[in-house]
Amino acid sequence: MKQTAYMKKVGLLSIVGAVLMAGVPSPAAEDLVSRRQADMKAMAAAAKTISGMFKDPAGYKASEFKWAADTIRDKSGSVLSAHFTSGAANLQSKAGPQSKARPNILEERDRFDRIANDLRDYAVALDAAAQNNPGPMTASMRMKPGEVMGGGPFGTHVRNEQELLAMPAEHAFHLMLQACATCHARFRME
Ligand code: HEC
Repeated sequence: MKQTAYMKKVGLLSIVGAVLMAGVPSPAAEDLVSRRQADMKAMAAAAKTISGMFKDPAGYKASEFKWAADTIRDKSGSVLSAHFTSGAANLQSKAGPQSKARPNILEERDRFDRIANDLRDYAVALDAAAQNNPGPMTASMRMKPGEVMGGGPFGTHVRNEQELLAMPAEHAFHLMLQACATCHARFRME
């Protein structure tokens, strides 16, 4: 009697064990998930720094603005894309519940990569703005009253580098935030 109960318990435990093992992501995948999440958090902090300077131009410092832009530049584009590849088995189904990445990233690879590259283009434009405005924040960095955001003359997707560098930095910044939001809406779980 006693032994049967024991056997049952062991049997149950090994089933639980097997299920747990199957559900546990490999350490490498887990690493990658925490690394890309840390990158995202760093980009969020950088965006907050830039946003704060547009809200309070007296607090503008070209070096800090540039550093924030460079943080986003260095964590976007192909660097960002490489964190979400199929090879590393790092997408939601296999990476486990700690990741909010959606598996459609693989099916819509081009779209995902394009948004990641757009983000980098905007960051490069912001870096240039900081270099061109080493002193106080100039009026040329600000959006003009009534300037249309997003759906404006350039739309939300700017392909032409010339246009991008010509627009006020604040406008480029708003397009940048839209790139974050566009990608999250499509490729990140609620
Ligand atoms: C090309 C797509 C893409 C772009 C662009 C993008 N993100 Fe993300 N972001 C994701 C995905 C996918 C996740 C979920 C990652 C995961 O949990 O594995 C995520 C997660 C996050 C998180 C949560 C991180 C955590 O700790 O779980 C933050 C914060 C974030 N992004 C901020 C930003 C900001 C700010 C920008 C723009 C400056 C941005 N993201 C641009 C795809 C993107």
